[in-house]
Amino acid sequence: MAAYNFSIVHLSVFFCYTISLVSFVYGGGFSVDLIHRDSPLSPFYSSRDKASDRAESSIRRSIERCSHFSKKKPTSENSSNKLGNITSTVVPGVVGDYLMLLAVGTPALPLLAVADTGSDIIWFQCTPCDVCFPQTFSPVFAPENSSTYENIPCATKECDALSSVSNLIPCDGNACKYNASYGDGSISIGNFARETLTFQSTESTESVVSVTNMAFGCGHNNTGIFSALGAGLVGLDAGPFSLVSQLGPAIDHKFSYCLVNVNANRIASKLTFGSNPKLVSGSKVVSTPIIFKENQSFYFLTLEAISVGGIRIPFNTSTSSNNEVLLQKGNIIIDSGSTVTSLPTDFYAAFEAEMKKAITVDPVIDPNTSLRLCYPGDSDPSLVPSVTAHFTDADIVLNPLNLFQLNGDNDELACLAFLPTDDVAIYGNIVQNNFIVEYDLVNKLVSFMSTDCQME
Ligand SMILES: *[C@@H]1O[C@H](CO)[C@@H](O)[C@H](O)[C@H]1NC(C)=O
Ligand SMILES: *[C@@H]1O[C@H](CO)[C@@H](O)[C@H](O)[C@H]1NC(C)=O
Ligand SMILES: *[C@@H]1O[C@H](CO)[C@@H](O)[C@H](O)[C@H]1NC(C)=O
Ligand SMILES: *[C@@H]1O[C@H](CO)[C@@H](O)[C@H](O)[C@H]1NC(C)=O
Ligand SMILES: *[C@@H]1O[C@H](CO)[C@@H](O)[C@H](O)[C@H]1NC(C)=O
Ligand SMILES: *[C@@H]1O[C@H](CO)[C@@H](O)[C@H](O)[C@H]1NC(C)=O
Ligand SMILES: *[C@@H]1O[C@H](CO)[C@@H](O)[C@H](O)[C@H]1NC(C)=O
Ligand SMILES: *[C@@H]1O[C@H](CO)[C@@H](O)[C@H](O)[C@H]1NC(C)=O
Repeated sequence: MAAYNFSIVHLSVFFCYTISLVSFVYGGGFSVDLIHRDSPLSPFYSSRDKASDRAESSIRRSIERCSHFSKKKPTSENSSNKLGNITSTVVPGVVGDYLMLLAVGTPALPLLAVADTGSDIIWFQCTPCDVCFPQTFSPVFAPENSSTYENIPCATKECDALSSVSNLIPCDGNACKYNASYGDGSISIGNFARETLTFQSTESTESVVSVTNMAFGCGHNNTGIFSALGAGLVGLDAGPFSLVSQLGPAIDHKFSYCLVNVNANRIASKLTFGSNPKLVSGSKVVSTPIIFKENQSFYFLTLEAISVGGIRIPFNTSTSSNNEVLLQKGNIIIDSGSTVTSLPTDFYAAFEAEMKKAITVDPVIDPNTSLRLCYPGDSDPSLVPSVTAHFTDADIVLNPLNLFQLNGDNDELACLAFLPTDDVAIYGNIVQNNFIVEYDLVNKLVSFMSTDCQME
């Protein structure tokens, strides 16, 4: 119950501050809290849920997320063969692990929404609801009660550009419409509109940042299973209508996050818009190119190899040729919304085998999760070999907490937080814990700096 009380206080505090709006400073930046859905800070956290259930749900979401990115329909039947005993057909909430607080309209209505680097547009549920999922922590946004709400008309640049990120849907009257669909079959349909969005910056307790005329989807028909979704979604990919792209020059086309371990007690992660002042260039910062693919707004990186101890395992482990194998550029998506990291089946198998060889403790089976290589949770972390992810131009040294997830109701197991996939590879959020990860959309770079995110 404590978690629920905390959230309500937090929302009302935000509401008070919006009375003293400060204007948005061009070239400036701001930070907001990013709340993991499974952390005690989340209103969706229930202390009654078992830790082992939460872990398994997060792994299932990660698996479904591969299909979200490849825009294929989920094929749970067949994935269950490949990935262990996975029996669920649809995993609720395929759209991300992190929630952020923001406010919409005038007067500003505070809402919790999923912040997702794998989604494009921003949308919230709106009245009147043809279909709305239950929204617990704030009323559904009522556009007619906001003085700054405006439908985007049909024959506009925005409405035309929408076709690149939304399923085609005819205009209705003179209102542009969007149709956002997700890998788990969830759909949000409504008016494409403009509104003022307000963020409470964590930089100073009373600073509030308001941005006018932000294009967003006002969702009147929100079907499917948006479990733990809050009031909607804030897209953070590189598409034209993501929050990042719309803020554009005002944030130097940059955003970053610093994710604390989900088990960190009641400490939120940080999402920063604008250049991160902590990311000073120097030997501690490494950067790798973002590869943008045609008609896709995801952040693809090139993972050349992973090394375990001194042994380098190339990404392309295909043995079809005895000459050097070609490495495809942009072979992995970096993503905040996927818990575990998914690697191509052959590559995963080679990585798992090296880890098993290097760790001199007998593995144990976790009956409750799909993760494949587990050890007793109280094993000595110093037995974990040094592991480095070799991205183009950027070597990232991973520590045991980036590699293993504590499972079981009393952390009795430590399981390698990686899975094999025949779908798109994903660099998930556990491996990104305790790094500042900055996305620079102009220079097309992702930069990493190892840090203690609890101190940020
Ligand atoms: C599963 O795989 C089999 C053969 O590989 C294929 O025939 C079948 O259509 C697949 N099922 C689904 C749901 O994709
Ligand atoms: C899990 O999968 C294995 C191998 O496919 C099978 O032998 C076992 O019975 C399954 N366990 C459950 C609980 O379904
Ligand atoms: C809501 O959208 C779904 C999916 O497109 C559609 O089948 C349904 O008829 C819509 N419902 C209403 C009330 O508009
Ligand atoms: C709009 O505001 C009025 C006055 O505060 C309120 O009575 C009404 O319920 C609101 N409409 C919606 C749809 O929330
Ligand atoms: C929205 O898009 C989905 C997926 O393409 C489609 O199944 C659905 O019919 C569309 N709904 C409308 C109203 O166009
Ligand atoms: C990208 O989109 C354009 C316009 O819809 C289409 O003509 C083109 O074939 C697409 N390219 C790929 C690789 O899907
Ligand atoms: C691996 O190398 C082969 C050529 O040997 C190439 O066709 C394939 O695309 C490469 N795969 C990846 C994932 O880089
Ligand atoms: C597996 O799940 C069962 C039932 O929820 C639970 O009693 C048991 O402690 C769990 N074991 C581990 C190792 O997580």
